[in-house]
Amino acid sequence: MIVGVIGSGGREHAICEILFRSNKISELYCFPGNAGTAKIAKNVDIGTDNFENLKNYILENKIELIIIGPEKPLVDGLVDYLEKFRIKVFGPNKIASQLEGSKIFTKKICKKYQIPTANFGVFKNTNDAHEFLKNSSYPIVIKADNLASGKGVYICENFEESYSAVKEIFNGKFGKANDILIEEFLNGEEMSFFIVSDGISIQNFGTAQDHKRVLEGDKGKNTGGMGAYSPSRLINDELEKKILNKIIFPTLKALKEIGTEYKGFLYAGLMIIKNEPYLIEFNVRMGDPECQTILPKLNSDLLEIFLACCDKSLKETKIKWNNKKSLCVVLCSKGYPEKYEKNVEIENLNKIKLDNSNYIFHAGTKEKDKKIFAIGGRVLNFVTLSDKFSNARENINKHLSELSWNKGFYRKDIGHKVIDE
Ligand code: AMP
Ligand code: GLY
Repeated sequence: MIVGVIGSGGREHAICEILFRSNKISELYCFPGNAGTAKIAKNVDIGTDNFENLKNYILENKIELIIIGPEKPLVDGLVDYLEKFRIKVFGPNKIASQLEGSKIFTKKICKKYQIPTANFGVFKNTNDAHEFLKNSSYPIVIKADNLASGKGVYICENFEESYSAVKEIFNGKFGKANDILIEEFLNGEEMSFFIVSDGISIQNFGTAQDHKRVLEGDKGKNTGGMGAYSPSRLINDELEKKILNKIIFPTLKALKEIGTEYKGFLYAGLMIIKNEPYLIEFNVRMGDPECQTILPKLNSDLLEIFLACCDKSLKETKIKWNNKKSLCVVLCSKGYPEKYEKNVEIENLNKIKLDNSNYIFHAGTKEKDKKIFAIGGRVLNFVTLSDKFSNARENINKHLSELSWNKGFYRKDIGHKVIDE
């Protein structure tokens, strides 16, 4: 089968790599991919800003299945567009993608279906928001409604901070803002919970905890993700039942009632307080770096899972996992998440031995003249599966010191809650 993957990050390299295990794949394309995907797929330099070019390429090259990695093309309706041309696509449609595209859309569903989440208010102008904030208790959370690549969230400690957050959002820092969301601060531990759905039934797709902050001890600026581990230390049977019954099933029912359905990965970002789940946000895709952390544990054919979702036969598909612990550490360019150098060569990559327990997934990399160059902030994902998280981290640290890339940095404390506490 000829398959195409859309995206260029660590998540998409992991998807390509695990898909490639399937003996049913005859050819793999990646749009636009990175130096890692180039080893197994044909990278095609077509972006998702022009749906028509992409569709023409897919049809001309007889690609039979498309998997969409990132949220933006999903929220922009790429699934609906490609399906009009009878192209098989794994990913949610435009309306269902509002679960990530509009925080207010999701909050309204939470309210109607009594899904546990932080108490919230929606404000349409600066004055009303300020009046409310004067009489609020702190910390408080202020969010832009639209997609903001994880940056449109402010945790404010006092009135002054919240005042400037509201101003920044209404001044268009994250695009045109008609509304903002002000939300109660939830004090617990975060967990990422994943399912896959064909629109009729669902199956669990693992749990993880990620580290979003750039500095050790979970301090400093927010990033796209500095590392993750799976499974989450918080998950247990009782919590899993609560997440499904109080959050996932009511959300899927809500989508049915507005006349649509959910096909693809659904990622619930949760705050767990005393074994009770509260929804912080939905993402309509796998997480990055959670995807790189979870997928190597899969013992089933990923292609069959994607096809079962497109053909609505997920119920009959068995998804098997190995029960190892998985840890992922992200190697970044020095300076990330702010300014960093681009086009810096990474040597020594071939020296690191990889096998079914050790992976390097590329993110911001490019190959030129058989050399690998860093072109992005997050560059490589080092993943190890092991019986113990501590062994996995030791092994990754060994690989990172073998690479010894002096233009990069990484957090040495990924997984500290499951290793050091
Ligand atoms: P989001 O983009 O909604 O995932 O928010 C980014 C991060 O902000 C989350 O991963 C949490 O760490 C934090 N956050 C968002 N909403 C809340 C909340 N209501 N209470 C506490 N922390 C929050
Ligand atoms: N790891 C966070 C995300 O993918 O949004």
